Formats: sequence, structure tokens, C-alpha cells
Amino acid sequence: MTPDTATDAEQTSRIAAAWKKQGLSIALVPTMGYLHEGHISLIRRARRENDRLIASIFVNPRQFSPSEDLAAYPRNLERDLEICRNEGVDLVFTPGPEQMYPQGFQTNVSVENLSGGLCGASRPGHFTGVCTVVCKLFNITGADRAYFGQKDAQQLAVIKRMVRDLNMGVEIIGCPIVREADGLAKSSRNSYLNTQEREAALCLSRALAKAGDEIAAGVTEAAAVSAAMRAVLDAQILARTDYIVVVDPDSLEPVPVIGAKALIALAVFIGSTRLIDNMLIER
Ligand code: PAF
Repeated sequence: MTPDTATDAEQTSRIAAAWKKQGLSIALVPTMGYLHEGHISLIRRARRENDRLIASIFVNPRQFSPSEDLAAYPRNLERDLEICRNEGVDLVFTPGPEQMYPQGFQTNVSVENLSGGLCGASRPGHFTGVCTVVCKLFNITGADRAYFGQKDAQQLAVIKRMVRDLNMGVEIIGCPIVREADGLAKSSRNSYLNTQEREAALCLSRALAKAGDEIAAGVTEAAAVSAAMRAVLDAQILARTDYIVVVDPDSLEPVPVIGAKALIALAVFIGSTRLIDNMLIER
């Protein structure tokens, strides 16, 4: 059966409100489409844990900076709907920009400090765009739970903070990174890579593996772990490192000595494609 689709926010709210009235729990998986196994893992978990499942597909213009090519972002709605059908999604919300940002729209949701560093440093305004659209999606759907990938670790931290700060009644669930067989984290942006770049992109997961080895060998200084990662990245001629950080996964504050909990995250340009990846240390 084809899942119901709605491009209209009010229609989506009406459907969700009717489910709520019946006492059903609602999950939301927000996406920008071009679904891959990472999204599918979110959809499957959300499907298991809730009575009704809404997936949204919206390439949000407000989270692209003027230097980023919104028009080039990969899209394949037909295939996405097919995946949603196969995975038992109940409703796919596919609004257009005019639905989400009608004439006169002028409200932003901004999580200040958490949005500034890491990816926020090279993508100014990105997380305000993300928070604004995610806040709208929560309001439209009234979701009880929303599922996000751990690959976008800063996005996850920012959204959790927004939900706490603004008393939003939605539980945020972070789900593990899904990887290709060779270790590359799944991302819609991988489709930008040519054959050579695809091979070069393995330096991200290799750098993280190196960090894991260092930590397993007893190294605890973040600077030493970062240096070992940088050596892996520097050896790859097509790679240009944007950042390597060792931070607390919630506050995103630097963690100089790796103890019980740390997020090791990196962003690397492979050619003109900026890729991110990370590893959570929990022990
Ligand atoms: O992670 C994404 O795909 C997007 O940032 C999100 C959460 C769907 C908001 O547009």
C-alpha cells in the first residue's frame, strides 16, 4: 500500500491530531529525502517503537548557506516514497518551501552557543535553519518521539538543547551511524564523490579507527589522539581537514583528557564535498 502523502501542513496536523485522539503514539523521522540505509535505520526503529510513523521529506533552503548549492542537493521523491511504502511509513509529509515559509515568514529558532563551533563555524546560520524547520515539523506533527542520526552529532546536540530549553514535549532519539561495508558513513552527500574521491573519503573512518586504536593503547590526551588522526588525513592528498575535535557530546565543550564520555568528530573536504563523521566514546 502506498503511504498517504500530504504536502499541506494543516492536513498533516489534522491526521496526526486524529491519531492522538485515539491514544496512538506518533513518531517523526525528519529527512531531506534521497533516503539511504541511514534513514531506513531511523524509520525501522521509529516503526518498531510507535503506533504511527510520519516521515518528512523537505530540502530545507534555510539550512543552506549562499555558498552551498541547494539546487544540486540530490533528490528522488519517487524512490523515497517507494522506500517509505516498503518500510511501513503511515504518512509522508512533503511540503514545498512556500508551505513551510509562506510570504511574510520571519521567525527563527536559534540555539546559541552549541551552534557556533564545529560545523557551525564554516556553515553560519545552518543550525538556525535546522532548528527552525525541525521546530515547525514538531509543531505540525505533534510527534511524541523524533529520530535523528548520530552522524550529525552536533545537530543532535543542538536539537536536544532546543527541546529542553523550549519545553517541547517530544523525545529525541539518536540512532547509530550506518556505514558502507568499507567504513564510509552513509550520507546523501556521498553521491557527489567521483571514484577517486570515494576512495579518498575512507580517510575519515580510518582516522576514527586510528583514534580508537590510540585510545585502546592507553592514550587519553585529546591532543595526541587528534594528532594521530590528522596524520591519517594529511596522508590523503584529496583531503582538506576542516576540523578534528574531542568534545563532550552534549555541551560540545572540549574534553582535554578522554575519560568516561567523549565525542570525537571531524569534518573533511574531499575535493569540494564536505563530509563529517564521528565516534562516541562511552565507557
Ligand atoms: O538531518 C537532516 O536531514 C536535516 O538537517 C533535517 C533534520 C531533516 C532538517 O532539515
